Amino acid sequence: MSEKTTFEAIKHRRSVRIYDPEKPIDPAIVAKCLELASLAPSSSNMQLWEFYHITSKDYIHKIAPLCFNQNAAKTAQQLVVFVVRKDLWRKRAKANLDFMDQVFGKNKPKSEWRKREKVARNYYGKIIPFAYFDFLGIFGWLKYLMISITGLFRPMYREVRNSDMRIVAHKTCGLAAQTFMLAMAAEGYDTCPMEGSDTKRVKRLLNLPYKAEINMIVSCGIRKPEGVYGNRFRIPFEEIYKKI
Ligand SMILES: Cc1cc2nc3c(=O)[nH]c(=O)nc-3n(C[C@H](O)[C@H](O)[C@H](O)COP(=O)(O)O)c2cc1C
Repeated sequence: MSEKTTFEAIKHRRSVRIYDPEKPIDPAIVAKCLELASLAPSSSNMQLWEFYHITSKDYIHKIAPLCFNQNAAKTAQQLVVFVVRKDLWRKRAKANLDFMDQVFGKNKPKSEWRKREKVARNYYGKIIPFAYFDFLGIFGWLKYLMISITGLFRPMYREVRNSDMRIVAHKTCGLAAQTFMLAMAAEGYDTCPMEGSDTKRVKRLLNLPYKAEINMIVSCGIRKPEGVYGNRFRIPFEEIYKKI
């Protein structure tokens, strides 16, 4: 099947709740769409996400009740669990610094660093640890207080508390999920994003670490016509579009 254009894929994508059991989907294509999802933008390029691609029927049967037996989960051919791994920030900052070594060269004396290298290394070596480090939320509030005071006098980045960083990581993961769903739509495959799940039980089933957070579960398959529940409803564009 030929791929759809971006516009076609956006229009084709609907949240599909009933998939056709006679139409299996190729796990390799789903994996390819997940690889495309990893090209989504991420805050500070920290990529604090993981994608768990569930192809085993046994696991799908175990996860469906944890999604409250929603049709979208029960009839899914495959599932993808999008997981936020804010706890991996040190590892991801290091991966970025290692990439700097590739780009700029390793073990160069600081005196030879050009401006771009200085900014980039300082960003992942100092600013990111400052933003992500926290201890029981206390340091986050101290940072917030400091920033709020300085912010009286100049523009400041204010999202530094633990709760802010969680939002940052979740919105980034949402972009990966949307990129995935559009890539799937381009292939003629269907999806449904699901927030409705018992995330604690899903985490336990997948053996995820304590600090991992489930962003959403996306069910996958090929739609049955009745699997799209009615026409799209959107708030009139004029109501939400504000030109300034
Ligand atoms: C974060 C998020 C969570 C959602 N959770 C569910 C869900 O648990 N179950 C479900 O059937 N649909 C879920 N949806 C799908 C929405 O209901 C759907 O996107 C919306 O009704 C618009 O329909 P459309 O996607 O077909 O355009 C979710 C969507 C998003 C973005």
